[in-house]
Amino acid sequence: MTGNENPLIIARNERTRWFSSDRFGMFIHWGLYSIPARGEWVRSVERISTDAYQPYFEEFNPSQYNPKVWAALARQAGMKYAVLTAKHHDGFCLFDSQLTDYKSTNTLCRRDLVREYVEAFRAEGLKVGLYYSLLDWHHPDYPAYGDRHHPMRDNEEYKGRSQDFSRYVEYLHGQVRELLTNYGRIDIIWFDFSYDKMSGETWKAAELVGMARSLQPQILIDNRLGGSGESNRNFGSKNPPVYAGDFACPEQIIPPEGLVDEDGQPVPWEACLTLNKNWGYAAADKDFKSPQQVVRALVECVSKNGNMLLNVGPNAGGEIPGECVQILAEVGEWMRKNSASLYACGRSEFPKPEWGRYTQKGKWLYAHIYDRGIGPVNFRGLAGKVKKARLLEDGSEIKLERPWMTTEYPADAFIDFPSSRLPDALDSVVELELL
Ligand code: GLC
Repeated sequence: MTGNENPLIIARNERTRWFSSDRFGMFIHWGLYSIPARGEWVRSVERISTDAYQPYFEEFNPSQYNPKVWAALARQAGMKYAVLTAKHHDGFCLFDSQLTDYKSTNTLCRRDLVREYVEAFRAEGLKVGLYYSLLDWHHPDYPAYGDRHHPMRDNEEYKGRSQDFSRYVEYLHGQVRELLTNYGRIDIIWFDFSYDKMSGETWKAAELVGMARSLQPQILIDNRLGGSGESNRNFGSKNPPVYAGDFACPEQIIPPEGLVDEDGQPVPWEACLTLNKNWGYAAADKDFKSPQQVVRALVECVSKNGNMLLNVGPNAGGEIPGECVQILAEVGEWMRKNSASLYACGRSEFPKPEWGRYTQKGKWLYAHIYDRGIGPVNFRGLAGKVKKARLLEDGSEIKLERPWMTTEYPADAFIDFPSSRLPDALDSVVELELL
C-alpha cells in the first residue's frame, strides 16, 4: 500500500494538520529533579537510591508556581502549543493519580500541577500536551538490576528481587487513562522512550494507543512507543505499526534533510531542543542559545517541513529561569513581526539560497536573509517569477532591481537593500509574492 492509500497515514495527516501549521511549541521539564538542579537524569547518573531521593519529595513546595505566567510567556514567544512532563523517569507524578502516593498532591504544595497547567495554557489559547515517561525508576516492578538506565542497575541488592513487570504495564496504562480522562481535551501525549527490548509490545503499545485514541480521538501521539531521540525507526514506513505515532521527534538535532517516508513523502516531525544543555533545571548550566540561534533553528525546522519544541526547565520554586524569559521575549518580538513566514509554511520549491533559507506557503515565498553579502541580493532562478517584494516586518517595498553588474545573470532576480546592513540581525525576512 502506498503512503497516500494507507488509511492509517491518511488519518495521521488529517490529525496533524494543526500541528504542521502551528510549528512552534514549548517543552517544559519540571519535577523533583529541579531541587538537586543537576538535570532530570540526576538519579540515574549519580545512582541515587529511592531513599536518598526521598528528601526532595518531602521538600518539594513550588511556592512561585504560576502556570498563567508560563502560558503568557509561551504565547508572547509565538508558541502555539506546550508539552509538560506529567511524570518523568523518576516516577514522580505532577498530577493527582489514584494509582500512587508518589504525586504532587501528597507534597507540601498539595496541588495538582497538571490541572493548573492545562487550564492556564488553554485559557491562553495554546494547545496542551503531556509528556509521560515509559521508564519509572520509582515503581517497584520496573526492571532495575541490569537495566541500561535504572539508578540501581548495578546494585547487587537489587539482583534477583521479585518483580512483576505486567503489574507495571497495568500501572502505566492506568495512569495514561487517568491523564486522558480527568483533564479535559489533551492535544498531545508525548511518550518517552523505548530502548533495547523495552519497546513496542513490551509496553502493550497497540492497546495503549487504542485506549488513547478512544478517549481522545483527536490526540497526537509521538513515535517513542517504538522509538527514541536518536531513532525514528518504523516511523517512515508506508505500513507503520499502529503505535508508530503521528510525528517523529528527533532530539537535539535538526534532521539535515528533514524527514520523509519510504516514498519520499514528508512526514510530520518535531525537533525537541533545549535552551541550554539540560531538559530539567540545571543551576550551573548557563550555556544558553541566543535569540538569533533560536529564531534560525525554528526557521530551519520549518524550511524542512518540521516543528520545533523548545524546552524550558523551571526551578524548584516553579519559576522559569530569567535567562529563558529574556531569550523568549526577544524571540517573541521577532515572531510578532515575522511569524507569517513560519505558521502554515513549509519547505520551499526553490533550493536553499546561499544567504539564508526559504520558507513557503503557496504563492508566498519568504526569504530569510542572514548574510547581507556584497551588492544586490541574488534570487537564483526567480527572474520573471516575482510579482512584488516587501520587508515583512513593516510591509515596506523592496525593489526588485537589475543593477548593471547583474547583466550576466538573466535567470535570476535581485533586490538591493538600501543599506549595507540588514534590517534585523536575527533574520531579515522579505516576503515575495510569486506570479
Ligand atoms: C531524552 C531524555 C529525557 C528527556 C527527553 C526529551 O529521552 O532521556 O530526559 O525528557 O529526551 O526529548
